[in-house]
Amino acid sequence: MNKRIDRYAVIGNPIAHSKSPQIHHAFAKQTGEQLEYIRLLGEPGRFAEDIADFLATGGRGLNVTVPFKEDAWQLVDELSPRAESAQAVNTIIQLDNGRLRGDNTDGIGLVRDLQQNQGATLTGARILLLGAGGAARGVLRPLLESHPEQITIANRTASKAVALASDLAVLGSVEGCGLSDLAGKRFNLIINATAAGLTDRVPEIPDDLLEDQGWCYDMMYGDKPTAFARWGLAHGAAKVIDGLGMLIEQAAESFYLWRGVRPDTAPVMKQQRG
Ligand SMILES: NC(=O)c1ccc[n+]([C@@H]2O[C@H](COP(=O)([O-])OP(=O)(O)OC[C@H]3O[C@@H](n4cnc5c(N)ncnc54)[C@H](OP(=O)(O)O)[C@@H]3O)[C@@H](O)[C@H]2O)c1
Repeated sequence: MNKRIDRYAVIGNPIAHSKSPQIHHAFAKQTGEQLEYIRLLGEPGRFAEDIADFLATGGRGLNVTVPFKEDAWQLVDELSPRAESAQAVNTIIQLDNGRLRGDNTDGIGLVRDLQQNQGATLTGARILLLGAGGAARGVLRPLLESHPEQITIANRTASKAVALASDLAVLGSVEGCGLSDLAGKRFNLIINATAAGLTDRVPEIPDDLLEDQGWCYDMMYGDKPTAFARWGLAHGAAKVIDGLGMLIEQAAESFYLWRGVRPDTAPVMKQQRG
């Protein structure tokens, strides 16, 4: 009997720039898993139909990126605890009974990149999280679970940062504020989870936010240093890191959820860094 190869996809809009197919094909080659992984250009307002069409052609799971993570959260039949608290789904898994399970691997991807690949000490750190959108919400729980001294969430729209902080305050010391409220504060690690970099900008933040030996982490990545990486270098950061490692680590966790095999991210990281 002819068995169709398991198919996976990343759905987003735009999607042509996505590195996910290369990353998942590298994982498949390394682990000997037979699968195909494609880019799907999603159409706003047609998310449920696009997912159904893909599953009908042998699709077993998807990654979901901007702007569909909330649509995915609403569509799936069940949610993992981390997707539930993120209120966003970046990984869809079709279970053997046909039900769709939603998970969110962005947070674990960020924390693994920081701790395992970069050697960051999050325990006891004072962390500034810039932004209060889907990405910030997705990483907040795992960041709090790594026992920092304090997380400050600062957002252009202050009320969103305050609401996000209050939603997860049971998990640790977290406060929300506006960007201008940051004056006089100092942090060991600043994580940029805003979309300002898409237009090569940085959020309007004070110049002196970094502690001595402080680090900057930008969730954005690109061929050249991002705007926030340049900000970090110009403002005394001991280390600046872009979001490519987070992308690869979140992909590895998705791959594990789908295939039950955990790929080694180090060679893929090396390959993608060129
Ligand atoms: N490396 C990875 O694996 C990975 C994973 C997930 C996301 N990301 C990246 O993370 C970024 C955020 O994604 P998202 O899904 O959270 O987007 P989102 O839900 O649209 O949220 C965007 C956030 O950026 C803020 N913002 C936008 N433009 C700004 C500006 N000019 N100045 C200051 N703040 C600004 C928004 O503030 P307001 O609330 O005031 O509008 C909001 O907090 C994107 O660049 C995305 O590519 C990377």
